[in-house]
Amino acid sequence: MGAKEKNLSLPWRVIVIILVILLGLMLSGWRIQFLSAAAETGSVYQERVVHSADGIGKFYMGREIAKVMGHTEALWLERLSRETTEQPQQVVDALDLKPTDVVADIGAGTGYFSFRISRLVSQGRVLAVDIQPEMLDIIEFLKQENNVTNVETILGSVTAPNLLDETVDLALMVDAYHEFEYPREMMEGIVRSLKPGGRVVLVEYRRENPLIPIKALHKMNQRQVRKEMKAVGLQWLETKHVLPQQHLMVFEKMNSRQL
Ligand SMILES: C[S@@+](CC[C@H](N)C(=O)[O-])C[C@H]1O[C@@H](n2cnc3c(N)ncnc32)[C@H](O)[C@@H]1O
Repeated sequence: MGAKEKNLSLPWRVIVIILVILLGLMLSGWRIQFLSAAAETGSVYQERVVHSADGIGKFYMGREIAKVMGHTEALWLERLSRETTEQPQQVVDALDLKPTDVVADIGAGTGYFSFRISRLVSQGRVLAVDIQPEMLDIIEFLKQENNVTNVETILGSVTAPNLLDETVDLALMVDAYHEFEYPREMMEGIVRSLKPGGRVVLVEYRRENPLIPIKALHKMNQRQVRKEMKAVGLQWLETKHVLPQQHLMVFEKMNSRQL
């Protein structure tokens, strides 16, 4: 090819320059849109277009947040097979509760754990927190039905458990934390609600084991849980290996010197 043929004529040069400018503007526009989406949700979260069908497309510390289990599936929480697969009595026994303890069951659902715990804290209380009023209605119905007086329902929001500061001995989350849309804000509220020496217990299906037949986003691995709890000033105390398919992880508030 001759050198003459390689040179573009003036009109073509103008067209190419215009196309390059337009492409540049489009790319920077997409970038601005992406950055503003991240800024809207706060710096600790990212929105991603490509994500799991079981998640909400929002990521926290590298983990995609799962969709919330709706109240129309409440019966699933009361399934008989839970006695075998989740062994609720083992969970309750592992909490080492005192009769006077105040326990917050965050993401209480139908109160599957709230009612079991209420028997152990006869002089204390269970604060059953959920964001779905329909779940709290079920708990209120069961309270009446079974004459339970030490379970109190609390309507939380996606960003706050609505608990008073320094009133809780133990905050429990069973199969719930992975659904929190604002895990950082929720955990900060939970930590504030703890009395000095108060504990947080998380029960989550073991993500390390791919053979456990639960959707991936509804399972968590220990490393991720510890990372997320450390970010809100919680120190890992122990993981109790008492359940067939779930981690039972115990944390306590770090004192200011440990932070
Ligand atoms: C899978 S259910 C588990 C219920 C119960 N812990 C159990 O084991 O039977 C999860 C519950 O967490 C609740 N939830 C989700 N996000 C929440 C939040 N930010 N604060 C309180 N509850 C929340 C949902 O409404 C749902 O009832």
